[in-house]
Amino acid sequence: MGEEGDGGLRYNPRVTNHRSPEKAEIAAIHEVAKILTSTQNLDRALGTTLRTLQSFLGFDRTAIFRPDEATREIRMEVAAGYTAEQRERSRYVWGEGIVGKTMKTGSPIALPDVRKEPSFLDKTRAHGKSLDGPLSYLSVPIKIGSETLGVLTAERIGRVGTQALEGDARTLAVVGSLIGQALKLHKAIQRLQEEFQRQRQEFEKTIRKTYRIENIVGQSKRMQEVFAAVTSVAPSRATVLLRGESGTGKEMIARAIHQGGGRADRPFVAVNCAALPETLLESELFGHKRGAFTGAVEERKGRFEEASGGTIFLDEVGDIPLPTQVKLLRVLQERTFERLGENRPVPVDVRIIAATNADLEKMVAGGTFREDLYYRLNVIPVFLPPLRDRKEDILPLTEHFLERFNREHGKSVAFSKDALDLLLEYRWTGNVRELENLVERAVVMAKAPVVRAQDLPRAIRVAAFLPATGSYGQPPAPQASDAASAAEPPHPAAPREGRPRVEFLKAMEREELQGALSSAGWVIARAAKILGWTPRQVAYKMKKHALSSPWKK
Ligand SMILES: Nc1ncnc2c1ncn2[C@@H]1O[C@H](COP(=O)(O)OP(=O)(O)OP(=O)(O)O)[C@@H](O)[C@H]1O
Ligand SMILES: [Mg+2]
Repeated sequence: MGEEGDGGLRYNPRVTNHRSPEKAEIAAIHEVAKILTSTQNLDRALGTTLRTLQSFLGFDRTAIFRPDEATREIRMEVAAGYTAEQRERSRYVWGEGIVGKTMKTGSPIALPDVRKEPSFLDKTRAHGKSLDGPLSYLSVPIKIGSETLGVLTAERIGRVGTQALEGDARTLAVVGSLIGQALKLHKAIQRLQEEFQRQRQEFEKTIRKTYRIENIVGQSKRMQEVFAAVTSVAPSRATVLLRGESGTGKEMIARAIHQGGGRADRPFVAVNCAALPETLLESELFGHKRGAFTGAVEERKGRFEEASGGTIFLDEVGDIPLPTQVKLLRVLQERTFERLGENRPVPVDVRIIAATNADLEKMVAGGTFREDLYYRLNVIPVFLPPLRDRKEDILPLTEHFLERFNREHGKSVAFSKDALDLLLEYRWTGNVRELENLVERAVVMAKAPVVRAQDLPRAIRVAAFLPATGSYGQPPAPQASDAASAAEPPHPAAPREGRPRVEFLKAMEREELQGALSSAGWVIARAAKILGWTPRQVAYKMKKHALSSPWKK
């Protein structure tokens, strides 16, 4: 701040001096106004202003004083013609000296010879008594309205006439108010910038709260919490243990953690630990030497080596046999492993993300899972809630999959309202994967642009109507693609509170009727035969269920 130049305007006073004083005053004011309005760097603009006053009006020294916000001590903040030491010495309290007085009263002071003035303190000691001749001194307030923000001073060595002194005072008063405007503007801009910054932070916070990680959908509070956990753990190398039922998205979250960290450009290697017997699993993980075991005809790199620098995803970690658990523990503790058939430790740099649907705590208690390994893996546990516990995600997920499969299969299919109601009602024991499969099947099979409730698989329709006892109709047929849901008892909690039996039967009747009619080509007599009803009954029930032949207009 101060004299350090910016290579600004440097007028030769000799050139300006030959102008008439009024012209010089106007030129100086004009120049200062330009400087103060042309930059956002206030300190620099103030320095240039002072030098402009020197150049245009021939002042020997000029300065701007401002009170310290905390101590109220008035300091020389910007200066031209003073040394750094002189500036440092110029500090006043409110009311002290000429500067303090100007600050206190808000009125200008103009002295033809400051050294004759008793209140002049010569704090800068720039005016040693030895100096011959008078020293005119001007001190004007920097004001906004009635508020004094600071003081502008100017000195001139040598005799000045009253007229010239008045001219100087006039000019400085104008410059003082211009500086006041600039300070005010600057403060307002600063406040706006602060406000802008605050709003931006606020905005980023809400974005973070409601974001979706790439293609991962989840509006429920519980999924938002999962996303927040992903964001905070991703950048570290900490081991993460993902827990949750089948199809809840464990692998997808594991990939998101890998993607969100600093290892995104390194490999992500997934190993399903349940799929292989002990020896093969170990060779899969750590690799083997040729001849390490029967069938090991060639040397093989393990998945840990493949994942080097990246992430290894150990899926179904609960299924790892105890001897392999020991080796995995060693990787976690020492960050080294040995290939099968070798006893040379190989260092590894991989992030480990494990996942399981198993009750590891129970396994630890039962001795089938090592406790030490459990603690090593369970550094950061992330729980993926079952879909039935976050129903508000069902529709956004359905929409997400519809969009995707419509695109993939070149279709444009939507679900009817009652179909969506069924999806909301269903228990989704296969979680998101089951919903994903259902939507794909519906899109592929759809013959019309709208998929209605009756077009959905029977298992879903029946399940949604089944009371807790499961005594109506047939139990839901397990979906071939979803072994997990088949293993579960049919959704004990599926029917909404008090969904009446009649409604269920009505829906079954309608379905039966519609099925018969469509296979009978909507010929009532033929449908009646299929159903073992009279044609009159068929006609009556068609009316009751608002069914009519699509061939009839
Ligand atoms: N929140 C979600 N948003 C979008 N797609 C999801 C979401 N959750 C799961 N999926 C999709 O559901 C399917 C199952 O997810 P994933 O394979 O990650 O589950 P999982 O927990 O590993 O299941 P499993 O235990 O059966 O291996 C995947 O195709 C995945 O893309
Ligand atoms: Mg999985």
